[in-house]
Amino acid sequence: MTVTIVSENAIAVVTVDNPPVNALSQALRQALVDAVADLDADTAVEAVVLICAGRTFIAGADVSEFGKPPQPPHLPDVVASIEGAKKPWVAAIHGSALGGGLEVALGCAYRVAVPTASLGLPEVKLGIIPGAGGTVRLPRLIGPAAAVDLVTSGSPVGAKKAKALGLIDAVIDGDLRAGAIAFANKVAERSLPQPISGRAVPAVESGFWDTAEKAVAAKAKREVAPLMALASVRNASETDFASAMAFERETFLDLRGSAQAAALRHVFFAERAAPRPPELAGVTPREIHSAAVIGGGTMGAGIAAALRDAGLAIVLIERDRAAVERGLANIRAIFEGSVKRGRITQEVSDERMAGVTGSEDYGSLANTDLVIEAVFEDIGIKRAVFGKLSEVCRPDAVLATNTSYLDPNAISEGIAHPERFLGLHFFSPAHVMKLLEIVPTETTAPQVLTTGFALARHLGKIPVRAGNCDGFIGNRILKVTRAQAERLLLSGATPSAVDAAMRAFGLPMGPFEAQDLGGLDIAAFQRKAARERGETPFAPVADRLCANERFGQKSGGGWYDYQPGHRAPKSSETVAAIIAEEAAGRPQRVWDEAEIADAIILPMVNEATRILEERVALRAADIDLVKIHGYGFPRWRGGPMHYAEARGLSEVVAVLDRLAAEGLTEPPHEGLRRAAKAGGFSALAG
Ligand code: 3HC
Ligand code: NAI
Repeated sequence: MTVTIVSENAIAVVTVDNPPVNALSQALRQALVDAVADLDADTAVEAVVLICAGRTFIAGADVSEFGKPPQPPHLPDVVASIEGAKKPWVAAIHGSALGGGLEVALGCAYRVAVPTASLGLPEVKLGIIPGAGGTVRLPRLIGPAAAVDLVTSGSPVGAKKAKALGLIDAVIDGDLRAGAIAFANKVAERSLPQPISGRAVPAVESGFWDTAEKAVAAKAKREVAPLMALASVRNASETDFASAMAFERETFLDLRGSAQAAALRHVFFAERAAPRPPELAGVTPREIHSAAVIGGGTMGAGIAAALRDAGLAIVLIERDRAAVERGLANIRAIFEGSVKRGRITQEVSDERMAGVTGSEDYGSLANTDLVIEAVFEDIGIKRAVFGKLSEVCRPDAVLATNTSYLDPNAISEGIAHPERFLGLHFFSPAHVMKLLEIVPTETTAPQVLTTGFALARHLGKIPVRAGNCDGFIGNRILKVTRAQAERLLLSGATPSAVDAAMRAFGLPMGPFEAQDLGGLDIAAFQRKAARERGETPFAPVADRLCANERFGQKSGGGWYDYQPGHRAPKSSETVAAIIAEEAAGRPQRVWDEAEIADAIILPMVNEATRILEERVALRAADIDLVKIHGYGFPRWRGGPMHYAEARGLSEVVAVLDRLAAEGLTEPPHEGLRRAAKAGGFSALAG
C-alpha cells in the first residue's frame, strides 16, 4: 500500500509510504491522483495533509524508471490534479522534498516543514531539468532570481531559508503531523488561495538574464542541464503557464534520454552501491567513538580534520614536541581556512580544535578505537609505528595505514592481531576529497573491512574496495596516464596541447599542469624505488626535469615556466629542448584534441580492465568512482569505464589497436577484447 488516508475530524491525512525514499513510482502517482478524486468527493473533508512515512518526504521521481518509457499518470498531471483539488492540500515535509517531491509540494495550496527538512530541485545533478512544473511554478512563488539559484545549482535549502524565500508557509517545531493538522484546520476556514500556476512572475531588473546566463555557463562548463534549467525558468517568466509547462516537459524528456543524463544516473547509483558491498552484507562494523592519527603532515592533518568534522575526538601523535606543535598548527590551518571560506564559524573551528589532543606518547592510545597512520612513506618507519601500536592499543582497536604505494601486507607483518589491520587510502586534501580506497590485507577480518566502509559513510566519503597492488586502483591508473602523456610529447604533441585537450574533455586540469601543481618529486622518488625493484618505469622527460631540479610550481619551473609568485604556466623553451632531444629519431605526427583525449583516456581504460580482471577492483563502476572522486574525471562523462561502454568497447579496441600499431600505447588487453565481444565490462566482473 503506497498511500493511506485517515480522517481526523474534518482533516484527511494522506500518508505516502513507499520505502526507501517515497520516490514517485507509477503506483504512487496513480494513488495520489485517486486520493484527490476521493477526497474531493468526500463532503466531510475540509482540508488535506500530505505527509510521508519513513525517513523522508517524497525525494523525487523514481530514478530507476528513467531508462524506460514514461507510464501515465505523468507527474505534471499528478501535480495539476493536486493543485486543482477542491480542498486545500498542505504538504507536511520532513527529511528531503526533492525534485518531483518538491514539485508535488508546489501543487499543494500550502507547505509546512520541520526545522531539519531540506527542499530543492537537484535534477541538474542527474543531467535533467525539473519535469513537473518546478521551473514554472518556482519563479511564480519565490521570484526568478531565487528560482534560478535553486534550479541551476541543484542544491537544496533548509527549512529556515525556505521560509525566508516564501517556499514554505510555516516551520513546525515539535510533532509534524499534529502541527500540520492544526495548520490545516486554520486554513480550512479560509477561501482557497490562488494556485501558483495562476500567479504572475515578479519582474526582474534589466540585464538579469544575461548576467545569470554568463554565471551559469561559467560554472556548468560542458554540462548541458544547468543552462537548459535556466532557459526554462526564463521561458516561464516570459510566457504563459501552459506554454512554459510544455517547454519544460519537452526539455526534460529530451535531456532524460541524453548521454550526460545516462552518465550521471550511472554515477548516482554507483555512489549509493559503493558504501554497501554485497559481499559484506550482514557483517556488523566495530563501533568507532575515538580515533588517533599518527603523523601530522599533509595527509595526517587532513585526515584528522576529516575525522573531527565528523564529530570524532582525535589524538595526534608526532615524533617530538616540535613536530606535535607543527601538526596541530596544520590542523588548525585547515579549520581556519574553512572559516575564511565561510564554511564554518570561528566558534565551530575552536570547538573542532578543542577536540584534538597532540602527543608524542603512544601510551595515550590505550583506549582508542581507530588509529590511522600517515607517517613518511618508508616501510621501516611505518613498521616501527605499528610495532608500538601493537603494544599499546586494545586488541580490537582498528589499525590502518594511509600508504600510497607500499604493500600493506608488508607493513603489518608481525603486528599483534593482524586481523584488525587494513589500508585506508585517503586523497589529498583529505578533508575535501571524497574518495577513500579501502584495502584489505590477506588477514583483514570482514568486520574490520566493514568498519572501513562504515567509517567512510560517517565521514561523507565514497569508499571503494581496492585490492593490494602497486598504486591500488587510482594511482596505478595514474602511472599509466602519465607515461602515456609523455609518449604523446615524444610523438609531436606539446605539454600545453595535451593539457588543453584534457581540459576540453572535461578534466579540471591536464596531466602536466597537475604534476606542476603537486610536485614532480614524489613520482620521481617512486620511479627510483621501482627501478631498484628491477622495474622500468617510462618517464624520460620527467626524469630529466627532476635531474634539472624542475619539480613544478614550488621550484619555479616544471613542465612549464613560472614567474616568481605567479601560478600561470608559460610554455618552456628548456622543456621543449629536452622533449626534442628525447624525441629524436621517433616518428612525429600532428595531434588534434580528440586524438589526444583518446590517447590518454583509452589506455586508462585498458589498464582499468586489467585491474578489473585481476579483481583489484570488484566492479567497473567502482573504477569510475575512483577516477571521479579522486582525480577529477568529469562526472557527466560517468567515469572512464562508463565512457568506454557508452562509446562502444569495439571502437575503443579499434582505436587502441591503431595507436599500438604506431607504437603509441600498449595493445588492448585480452580482457578488453573479451569485454568488447560480450558488449560490456559485466562479462569480466563477478
Ligand atoms: N529514485 C529511486 N531510488 C532512489 C531515489 C530516487 N529518486 N533516491 C534515492 N533512491 C534510493 C537509493 O538508490 C538507495 O537505494 P538502495 O538502498 O537500494 O541502495 C536508497 O534510495 C537510499 O538512498 P540514499 O542511500 O541516498 O539515502 P540517504 O538517506 O543517504 O539520502 C536522499 C536520501 C537525500 C533522498 C538521497 O537519496 C537523494 O538525494 N536522492 C535523490 C533525490 C533526487 O535526485 N531527486 C530528484 C529526482 S529527478 C526528479 O524528481 C525529476 C522530476 O522533476 C520529474
Ligand atoms: P608528510 O611528510 O607531509 O608528513 C609525514 C609526517 O609524519 C611528518 O609530519 C612527520 O613528522 C611524521 N612522522 C614521521 N615519522 C613519524 C613517526 N615515527 N611517528 C610519528 N610521526 C612521524 O607526508 P604526507 O604527504 O602527509 O604522507 C604521509 C603518508 O600518506 C605517506 O605514506 C604517503 O604515501 C601517504 N599519502 C600521501 C598523499 C599525498 O598526496 N601527499 C596522498 C595519499 C597518501
